[in-house]
Amino acid sequence: MRTVHSLKELRNILKAYRQQGKTIALVPTMGNLHDGHISLVRKASEAADVVVTSIFVNPMQFGANEDLDSYPRTLAEDQDKLAPAGNTLIFAPPVSEIYPEGLANQTKVVVPEVSEGHCGASRPGHFEGVATVVTMLFNMIQPDIAVFGEKDFQQLAVIRKMTRDLMMPIEIVGAPTVREDDGLAKSSRNGYLSDTERASAPVVYQTLTNAARQLEQGRTDFTAIEQEAQETLSKAGLRPDYFNIVNSLTLKPATVDDSEVTLLVAAFLGTTRLIDNISITR
Ligand code: PAF
Repeated sequence: MRTVHSLKELRNILKAYRQQGKTIALVPTMGNLHDGHISLVRKASEAADVVVTSIFVNPMQFGANEDLDSYPRTLAEDQDKLAPAGNTLIFAPPVSEIYPEGLANQTKVVVPEVSEGHCGASRPGHFEGVATVVTMLFNMIQPDIAVFGEKDFQQLAVIRKMTRDLMMPIEIVGAPTVREDDGLAKSSRNGYLSDTERASAPVVYQTLTNAARQLEQGRTDFTAIEQEAQETLSKAGLRPDYFNIVNSLTLKPATVDDSEVTLLVAAFLGTTRLIDNISITR
């Protein structure tokens, strides 16, 4: 398994694979890989001949007060984890390779509607940064398929819409969230939690499953369920950012007529922001 840092080298290698008629899958990541990422790579390797995992902590998707500088960079450990998962190539470019002229004058990709609200409201510019770097990765790698985790539910919706709207000939595949035994969704940011915070963290998934059960049992007072969930999170010592019950396709507030519904949550535990979701059919 090779690791390449330059776009030129990446393009040469991929050109040779394409000439051999091989299909290519992309797994975009920011590194600090955990079992969730590895499940994406395994899924990609079942679907294509060549799997490229990109590792790039994208400065454009971080807000001014967010954790860009402290975000863990663990390339050596990531390489060890990717080799047995069926990965072919790691693309780990430096920032100068992706944004040679800096961020200020970079052309950006804006995906309306699904980018708005939820994480888009709390993290202005975040999805613009994600959509832009993913478009660039798609153009650089030209994969047949790309695999993203369902844990970042809104991100997946943004990528799906962007790919559709811009007629990108790439199949977008979502992969289920991988969880710890106590239900906490695996995330690179879980490593920021203190022992005490880690002990409280499973309440996020518990709150989601409890609210989902109530919807399945026929409750339709969505706003009350959202408020109760936020209270549960606050009582457990978290600071809820949002708890929203939405239409799974549009990500707009769910109505009683919606059958496919997703519960989206973001909450701070100390300074760590955790996100999670559950989708149900009513
Ligand atoms: O989900 C992530 O890790 C990032 O948002 C992504 C898709 C790699 C873009 O930087």
